[in-house]
Amino acid sequence: MSEERISLEDLKGIGPKTADKLREKGYDSPEKIAVMRPEELADILKITKKAAKDIVNDAKEKVLDKAVPAFTFKEIIQKRKEKIQRIPTGSKELDRIFRGGVPTESILTIKGEYASGKTQLAYQLCVNCLKYLKRKVIWIETESGTFVPERLIEMAKAVGLEIDPENDFIVVPASTINTPYSQFLAYERAVRMMKKKNMDVGVFVVDSFSAQFRAFYTGREMLPDRAKEQARHLGYLDNLASKYNMLIVLTAQVMDIPDQGGQLGERVKTGHTKRMVGGNVLSHWSTYIVSLQKLSTTDWEAVIADAPDLPMVRCR
Ligand SMILES: Nc1ncnc2c1ncn2[C@@H]1O[C@H](COP(=O)(O)OP(=O)(O)OP(=O)(O)O)[C@@H](O)[C@H]1O
Ligand SMILES: [Mg+2]
Repeated sequence: MSEERISLEDLKGIGPKTADKLREKGYDSPEKIAVMRPEELADILKITKKAAKDIVNDAKEKVLDKAVPAFTFKEIIQKRKEKIQRIPTGSKELDRIFRGGVPTESILTIKGEYASGKTQLAYQLCVNCLKYLKRKVIWIETESGTFVPERLIEMAKAVGLEIDPENDFIVVPASTINTPYSQFLAYERAVRMMKKKNMDVGVFVVDSFSAQFRAFYTGREMLPDRAKEQARHLGYLDNLASKYNMLIVLTAQVMDIPDQGGQLGERVKTGHTKRMVGGNVLSHWSTYIVSLQKLSTTDWEAVIADAPDLPMVRCR
């Protein structure tokens, strides 16, 4: 596949003047021409439908291989093998189920009650990403006090890693984040810094993903707006995951379900009786959901609640 970009002027029958006219109307790439109806194009350029059809066909011919890549099964497996990396979780059992660790190019959502270990698991993924992948970390802190460098240093020591304080982390602290909108800006700010410093980032954490949404969209009547804004965030993060081969780690709080029937349903779906804040939109966009519950001071339980390629499993 050629990496050269083709321009409007490369299409049969389109000179500089015609190209300008198209750009003016917002049709600024051969890809956009390729999906036009010939009638539309004929109307804009004041040409016959037949001539318009020829242009559209030529555009299709020239961009299709590039705009819409299609692969064989073998190629997909090969590509995944080359690209996907696995980040160990720190739990032997979870790693076994994840076949070595949580894969990059995916979104992992960690749900659980207060103090169930969500942030700790996110820390562990950061440390292991630095240690085993030799790739950097972005941390978006949306609630103050959850990013604790001392704890990270301690965890790093446990795997024989010394954190490079200048180069290993980009952190956007909670002090700048007080709405879902500033949370979104925080992602963009972090990505800009990553590009500027030419950093290879393997893990991108948003801790917590849901807190600002919960505080900002209060009434039931705001749910559609909340869902829309959440989808915008998740679309952006999902794109980052594939563009930069990152693992996106989101933490989500849970809330009580009042009726027992609802609790039972939730237990069947996710292993625990409390529902994730952010509900369906977040579940839909997550590649993996891990539900955490603290059993005692030394024991916790993780349930892989939703995964395209793993069974629902309970580990301790
Ligand atoms: N240095 C440490 N060594 C061992 N355990 C620790 C250490 N620091 C914190 N913990 C344990 O981790 C748990 C807190 O987990 P964590 O902060 O990850 O919870 P969380 O699910 O993120 O909660 P929240 O919803 O409040 O953010 C506590 O139970 C605490 O005992
Ligand atoms: Mg936390």
